[in-house]
Amino acid sequence: MREEWWRKKVEEILIPEDQIQRRVAELADRISDDYQGHSPIVVGVMRGAGVFHADLIRRISLKISIDYISVSSYGDNTLSSGEVQLVKDLKMAVEGEHVILVEDIVDTGLTLGFLTRLFSARNPESLKVCSLLSKPACRKIDVNIDYLGFEIPDRFVVGYGLDYRQKYRNLPFLAVLSEVEE
Ligand code: PRP
Repeated sequence: MREEWWRKKVEEILIPEDQIQRRVAELADRISDDYQGHSPIVVGVMRGAGVFHADLIRRISLKISIDYISVSSYGDNTLSSGEVQLVKDLKMAVEGEHVILVEDIVDTGLTLGFLTRLFSARNPESLKVCSLLSKPACRKIDVNIDYLGFEIPDRFVVGYGLDYRQKYRNLPFLAVLSEVEE
């Protein structure tokens, strides 16, 4: 049998795969109920939210559209630079549309603050935020999360889309690494 490549690097599995999947299904159900009769655009914030977005959209029972936007503030660092950059914009126009922004994690809140301003200026019919994780202890600005998966403590987590130096995004669970250099 092949040895699990992550075994020696992972200190602790914070949220196992089955727990994530159950929560994703619950969030998708709530979204499906709240948007009955509407066709929201469900926007994945790349790259971190890629895995969560892919699972979430397949569980939403509505005639949705999907799009992606890419922003960056961490680069290869574990601490936010505090400066958010738009790396790649949406393809769709959002004016007059119901938009759901899908994030993997809200940490300082700076990325979400930047995205909220960007989207609001485009006059969507409504704008809501769905984030798998939130680290309230790290907040620098006040932001609103409409659909939240889990609140987590101030620990550096990887997996299910989240990276450490661009690696570990493909772990199916959320984990804490044994060694992280800032
Ligand atoms: C991460 C994450 C969020 C953001 C949250 O993105 O995906 O978008 O940081 O942090 P904040 O609340 O402190 O702004 P990152 O810039 O690392 O890019 P990535 O998605 O490509 O990993």
